[in-house]
Amino acid sequence: MDFKQKMLRDDALKGKTIVVTGGGSGLGKSMSTYFLELGANVVITSRDIEKLKNTAAQLEEETRGSVGDSAGKVLPVQCDVRNYEEVEAMVQASVEEFGTVDVLLNNAAGNFISPTERLSANAFDTIIDIVLKGSKNCTLAFGKHWIDKKEKNKSILNIVTTYAWTGSAYVVPSATAKAGVLAMTRSLAVEWAKYGIRSNAIAPGPFPTKGAWDRLLPGDLKEKFDLAKKVPLKRVGEHQELANLAAYLVSDFSAYVNGEVITIDGGEWLKGAGQFNLLEAIPEEMWDQLEAMIKSKKRN
Ligand code: HXC
Ligand code: NAP
Repeated sequence: MDFKQKMLRDDALKGKTIVVTGGGSGLGKSMSTYFLELGANVVITSRDIEKLKNTAAQLEEETRGSVGDSAGKVLPVQCDVRNYEEVEAMVQASVEEFGTVDVLLNNAAGNFISPTERLSANAFDTIIDIVLKGSKNCTLAFGKHWIDKKEKNKSILNIVTTYAWTGSAYVVPSATAKAGVLAMTRSLAVEWAKYGIRSNAIAPGPFPTKGAWDRLLPGDLKEKFDLAKKVPLKRVGEHQELANLAAYLVSDFSAYVNGEVITIDGGEWLKGAGQFNLLEAIPEEMWDQLEAMIKSKKRN
């Protein structure tokens, strides 16, 4: 067994319908693939319907190839999460196709690196609108629907980042928006528990995807900043290990997990945070000498 393998039993998500925003590419596509293999029906949404249709056809073929007829069905739905009317139409389209939706996975995001003072007001708004307003729009639309229909055993999973709580220079709109999504996760975990709706989040460290890497490490920055070096485990994430965690959090196995944010980053953010972590640079053989020096100061 290793972390690249599929973790849950074959039928773990059988009977569930999961909406994945930004499900046509990157991490959303990888999570959708695993949900389908576990028997869930998946609605993939984004702005680009042609991309979604291609992804849907590819995912249905691949997952039927890997698990046969137990694989779920895919519905591609165009929806810009910034627009509440489009989100309401996406809720309706999902319900019409599958009867009900059990899980909302807020995964869609926008981001780019920039000194904040270079940003236009519209540039800042664009990121806030996709990440915070988009997650709010989908959460509100599905929450209203579930509460109105008195449907229970529902779950919202939000993809945030570790800089939602540390903050980060040069991606300030994204950090600001993800912090808001994290606050919404924890707030609704309490408020909507009485309706049978759980809210949780995942904070991934670096998981290579074209969407993120082209915008966060453009040109030769990819070679200059090896993100794996910032991770104590000295590697970036594998999509399947994120998919394993997401599948657990949207499954009924996690029925008592509510209001949690689970970090999956190989220890990356803590490495940046701990005041003395830089002592890792001290060679093993110097520790005898340092210990002697410290002990000699004991009675001063
Ligand atoms: C400064 C920029 C800019 C840049 C765009 N703008 N790119 N400003 N630097 N690099 C400005 C534009 O000039 C414009 O402002 C405003 O932003 C909106 O730009 P549009 O191109 O019109 O927006 P839109 O077509 O809606 O595209 C949204 C986008 C784009 C966010 C700009 O990159 C996108 O579609 N991204 C989706 C995918 C994505 O970003 N994935 C990465 C997620 S990674 P003006 O004033 O000129 O009108 C992630 C990882 C986190 O979140 C952690 C990793 C470790
Ligand atoms: P990605 O491939 O660029 O995915 C972003 C998705 O969001 C795309 O499918 C995009 O589809 C969709 N999207 C963007 N704007 C949208 C809008 N207005 N309406 C609807 N959909 C929209 O990036 P990723 O790396 O997979 O990121 C997925 C999630 O993981 C994001 O929440 C990101 O913040 C988070 N994350 C990623 C990493 C990482 O290392 N990769 C680390 C931490 C957190 P369209 O362009 O077709 O609309």
